Amino acid sequence: MRRPLVAGNWKMHGTRASVAELINGLRQQVLPADVEIAVFPSCLHIAQVLQGVAGQVVAVGGQNCAVDPGQGALTGEVAASQLQDAGCALVLVGHSERRLLLGETDAEVVCKFAAAQSCGLTPLLCVGETLEQREAGKTLEVVGAQLASVVSALGIEVFTRAVVAYEPVWAIGSGLTASPEQAQQVHAAIRAQLAGHSVEVACAVRILYGGSVKAANAAELFGMPDIDGGLVGGASLNADEFGAICRAAGN
Ligand code: PGA
Repeated sequence: MRRPLVAGNWKMHGTRASVAELINGLRQQVLPADVEIAVFPSCLHIAQVLQGVAGQVVAVGGQNCAVDPGQGALTGEVAASQLQDAGCALVLVGHSERRLLLGETDAEVVCKFAAAQSCGLTPLLCVGETLEQREAGKTLEVVGAQLASVVSALGIEVFTRAVVAYEPVWAIGSGLTASPEQAQQVHAAIRAQLAGHSVEVACAVRILYGGSVKAANAAELFGMPDIDGGLVGGASLNADEFGAICRAAGN
């Protein structure tokens, strides 16, 4: 059985005051024991969040890491080893905002994935197609290629210590959610692709759905056989909403 994971991607949001408020709200939530929960604040707020959620069952992750795991001369970047030192357990890699707005390539995503694991962090690999690609019937090809770049460079076994998130770009922050059936189709294809290398690894890996997940649609999405939780952006900035999404992932 795969343990569901609900991850809150706070993106470039938050001030010390709003983060304190959000932490307070999270502490008041009844969180399900059978669901793993993580939040990804901006680097500036990682320490504050770790301190604030101490004793809670919430892990903290970074939103990005540098391609090389160690410290070095790379102005503005954060190394996976620094995230690990700061108390992070996970890191997002290959979020579509970074791929599309900042030009992050598959090759860089592979390096970041490897950097994360070399420091003991769990990479949460994001994949997904644009609306144009979906309309051209290329969804599975695009997602398959993003996944294949990691498998071919690093092997299948790395997925025993990683999480995949399917996030259709057209559903991110748009209010348009993939239907449970649309999402399930891609999740099943991702699992089948991994199963082509190792059935055991494919059965165990968690595949999250992301893209306008909210309390109102979470249960339906999480009820699909290959959807093992969610990567939640906008709705994770509201503690009550995020708490409800976490509960929807529980039994
Ligand atoms: P959203 O973002 O929930 O605001 O659509 C999801 C994400 O980008 O991870």
